[in-house]
Amino acid sequence: MSRSSQCDGGRWEMDANKRLSELSNGYQHAIVLLTAARAGVFAAMGRQAQPADALARRLGFDARALEIVLLALAADGIVTREDDGFRIHPDFAPLLLPDSPTTQDSILKHNYACMKRWMSLDEVLRTGRPASEPAALLPHEDMRNFICGMANISRLSSAEVAARVDLSGFRRMIDVGGGPATSSIVFCQKYPQLNCVVFDLPGPLRIAREEIARAGMDARIETRAGDYFRDELGEGFDLAYVSNIIHSMGPDDSLMLMRKCHRALTPDGTLLVKDFFLDDSRTAPNFAAFFSVNMLTGTAQGKSYTLRETQDLLARAGFGDFRHLDVAAASGLLIARKA
Ligand SMILES: C[S@@+](CC[C@H](N)C(=O)[O-])C[C@H]1O[C@@H](n2cnc3c(N)ncnc32)[C@H](O)[C@@H]1O
Repeated sequence: MSRSSQCDGGRWEMDANKRLSELSNGYQHAIVLLTAARAGVFAAMGRQAQPADALARRLGFDARALEIVLLALAADGIVTREDDGFRIHPDFAPLLLPDSPTTQDSILKHNYACMKRWMSLDEVLRTGRPASEPAALLPHEDMRNFICGMANISRLSSAEVAARVDLSGFRRMIDVGGGPATSSIVFCQKYPQLNCVVFDLPGPLRIAREEIARAGMDARIETRAGDYFRDELGEGFDLAYVSNIIHSMGPDDSLMLMRKCHRALTPDGTLLVKDFFLDDSRTAPNFAAFFSVNMLTGTAQGKSYTLRETQDLLARAGFGDFRHLDVAAASGLLIARKA
C-alpha cells in the first residue's frame, strides 16, 4: 500500500478500487442491454408486462437464461419487475420499441456490432488495422442498422442545428455522406426555401430514398450516388453539410474532402462540419476520446479531431470566418465560409 493511502486511512485505495471496478465491469451492462436489443427482446415485450417464460417461448430462448437477463435489466432500471412479469420502464419504452418515432433500436443494434469489433482491440493494437470493413459496406443487415442508427441519433442533433443556425438564406445544400437523409429532411421541414442533394454510397441511399419518400420530400431532396474518395460532389451549392464524416478518415483524406466541398460551393458559400470534437488536451470530452477508439477499431485512419485541427484543415482547404457551437449528443458544429 502506498504512503498516501496509509495517511488517508486507505480512502485513496477504496476510491481508486471503486472506480477501477466500475470501469472494468462496465462491459456487463452494455452487453446485457445491447444483446437484448439485438435479440429482439424489447420488440417482443412491447408495452405490456410479460412473464419471462412466455417471452422465452415466443423468442425461442432458454427461460432461465432470459429471466436472469431480464432481472439484470431490471437492476439497471431499463425494465420493471411486476406481479405479472417484466415490462419496459416507461421512460425507456419510447427509445427501445422499434416502432416508436423516437426509437434508438437501430443504433443499439449497430452498437452491438461495434461491441463485437471492440473485442478485437488487442489485435488492432498489434496490427494498427481495423477489425472490420467500413460499416457502410457491411452485409445488408449490419449496413441497415448503421444507416438507420444514424437516423436515430441525428434526428435530435439536426433539429438543434436547424434551430440554432439560421439557414433561411440558403437555397441548395449538399449533404455529404448524408446517410439516411435525416439532416436534409429536418432542415427542409424547417426552411421551405431549401433544397438538398444527399451524396452517399448506393446502399445507404436506398434507405435515404425510403426516408425521403416517407417524409414527403421527394420534390425537394435528391440523392446522388458517389464515392467521396473518388468522385466530385457536384457544384453550385451555397451550403455544404458534413456531419460525422471526417472522424472516419485521416487528415489527408479530410483535407481532400474539404477541398471537394470548397469546389462544390458557390463563391461565399457556407460549410458546416459537425463532429465529436476533442479539446486541445485530446482527453476531453470523454465521449470523443472513446469515440476515437471506436474509429480505431472500425477504420484504417479515422479518429476524433480537435476543433483546432479541423479549423486548420478547413483553412488549408480555403475556408475562413470560423464560428463554433456545441450541439446535442456530444457534438460540435464548426461553421466556415468559402474565402
Ligand atoms: C457516420 S455516417 C453519418 C451520416 C450522416 N451524415 C449523419 O450525420 O447522420 C457516415 C456516412 O458516410 C457515408 N460514406 C461512407 N463512405 C463513403 C464514401 N466513400 N462515399 C460517400 N459516402 C460515404 C456512409 O454511408 C454514411 O452514410
